[in-house]
Amino acid sequence: MPSAVPRTGYDLVVVANRLPVDVSTGDDGEVTWSRSPGGLVTAMAPVMSGAQGAWVGWGGSPDLDLDPFEVDGTLLVPVPLCADDVESFYEGFSNDTLWPLYHDVISAPAFHRAWWEAYQRVNLRFAEAAAAQVAHGGTVWVHDYQLQLVPRLVRELRPDVRIGYFHHIPFPPLEIFTQLPWRRQVVEGLLGADLVGFQRAGDAANFVRVVRRLTDLTTRGQVVTITRHGKVERHVRAAPFPISIDSGAFDELARTDAVQQRAHDIRRELGDPRTLLLGVDRLDYTKGIRHRIKAYGELLAEGRLSAQETTLVQVASPSRENVDAYVQLRDEVEQLVGRINGDHGQVGHAPVQYLHQSFPMEEMAALYLAADVMLVTALRDGMNLVAKEYVAARSDDRGALVLSEFTGAADELHGAVLVNPHDIDGMKDAITYAVHMDDREARKRMRRLRRRVLGHDVAAWSREFLAALQAVPHRSDHG
Ligand code: F6P
Repeated sequence: MPSAVPRTGYDLVVVANRLPVDVSTGDDGEVTWSRSPGGLVTAMAPVMSGAQGAWVGWGGSPDLDLDPFEVDGTLLVPVPLCADDVESFYEGFSNDTLWPLYHDVISAPAFHRAWWEAYQRVNLRFAEAAAAQVAHGGTVWVHDYQLQLVPRLVRELRPDVRIGYFHHIPFPPLEIFTQLPWRRQVVEGLLGADLVGFQRAGDAANFVRVVRRLTDLTTRGQVVTITRHGKVERHVRAAPFPISIDSGAFDELARTDAVQQRAHDIRRELGDPRTLLLGVDRLDYTKGIRHRIKAYGELLAEGRLSAQETTLVQVASPSRENVDAYVQLRDEVEQLVGRINGDHGQVGHAPVQYLHQSFPMEEMAALYLAADVMLVTALRDGMNLVAKEYVAARSDDRGALVLSEFTGAADELHGAVLVNPHDIDGMKDAITYAVHMDDREARKRMRRLRRRVLGHDVAAWSREFLAALQAVPHRSDHG
């Protein structure tokens, strides 16, 4: 048994950049935490609450060095990041190199060798923390682009465990991926896993193509064969597992009297517009917020939507505020919103209600219920859970979803009005179509959407991933 195996370990160890809580210490040194925002946390919370597991991740602030602590039956194991790690690993390599590269280079990725050094160093720290927690023969489930070297590092430390990796964001085509100076090391990092999961079949196919081009390993369909000294050592499977939300819980939340009442109040507070459009995104250049607002502004200018009777609520939650591209995006969006409100607003009515804030789930559910048309116009998105939340909230079978074809969700959410967000005229037509959609068609589409979202929730996603991980032949299966 390898020496790093703990005496009593956890059967399931999740490794993600962030812990499911944001941790902070007060002036008196007292530790407080609150549930952290974001898709992964929403996705994993119900999975972890049903398992005796550990979660390895960063607490969200620099220089936090805390002992592991338990929340809702899960051991949370904080990985400390110093200020330089935050700058070079998180803001730098993760969010200014990999993020733009993996999202079709919408913004130019920056390649800095010092950031790559930090990425390697921090990935090793996460791998060591996971290796110290997992039980003999247990499972380590690594999440996302910040930690692509972790599967291989964990395998080196703990060859007895099964390793799964899930990639939450797009995996780019070969021609884009190969721009990365450290492309081979990243691929080898991922191939340390037994199962590499992606959002879409296209992402998995891109990965397999990259493996074929950058390594001399053989691939057959979804399976890569790892050989050593000419002998088959193990197999790695690359396959799609589209993520979902806790749709039942969201549906229930949106049915509560408090949320229903709040939805009415929101419309009233907005002056009872005839049409309420809604956008909900992290303020990120991948989300197509500028394209959407531009299309809306033109519809108002052309009189195709009435500026007096229409409101667009745009929730843009603050994100990665130290990364230049995000600072610039904020300026651009706010200038655009100001211009539209200046040109088309009236005393007491602004056609765009822009909220640079995050809101609790209850408020989000009420906004979804209040909205006639939901606009999800990402230029590229791994999945987009907002689209699924909107559908889960609409137990009244009303409302229309305008959805970018460049989201993972578009592969599943038949019933949405699909758009190419780069095509502003096409998007204007789609928004107009959704606004004027007759009730029968809207209900038919929404019922179809709800069958998918409620029929495949995040619990099904994790069950399917973990079952597929157990099914990959492993050396411990042979004694
Ligand atoms: O979509 C990828 C992701 O890392 C999510 O897991 C997360 O919710 C979101 O981006 C925001 O990430 P962060 O605030 O950690 O940079």
